[in-house]
Amino acid sequence: MSLSALGILLAGAVIYYFSSPANEAEANIALKHKEAAVVDLGRAVYAENCASCHGVALEGQANWRQRDADGYLPAPPHDETGHTWHHPDSYLFLMTKYGV
Ligand code: HEC
Repeated sequence: MSLSALGILLAGAVIYYFSSPANEAEANIALKHKEAAVVDLGRAVYAENCASCHGVALEGQANWRQRDADGYLPAPPHDETGHTWHHPDSYLFLMTKYGV
């Protein structure tokens, strides 16, 4: 590999590293689903910020597996009928913080 190619590769890696929205601490997040106080707080935050799309009872939006006319997916349920439970904690955290 030529030196300039190596330089371009290195620059790309540096740009990627600094533009990557997720830092390592965030990627190592673990949800505290067994701490009652955290769950209670989450319930209130959910009701205020998430229930409008994901449903008051976590049921999600109708036909959530089908893309709309603009190509977007509706909000999926967060109960056992969806697939949220299937994802690792870090994915759920990053998805909530930064979006799709
Ligand atoms: C304006 C509507 C809206 C609100 C409000 C909203 N979401 Fe979502 N959410 C969506 C949509 C739409 C998707 C699916 C995006 C996709 O897959 O393309 C989604 C996906 C998710 C996912 C990924 C689920 C999976 O199984 O892949 C998580 C986790 C999530 N939302 C959490 C939250 C949380 C937590 C809140 C509140 C803090 C919230 N969302 C508020 C619309 C919303």
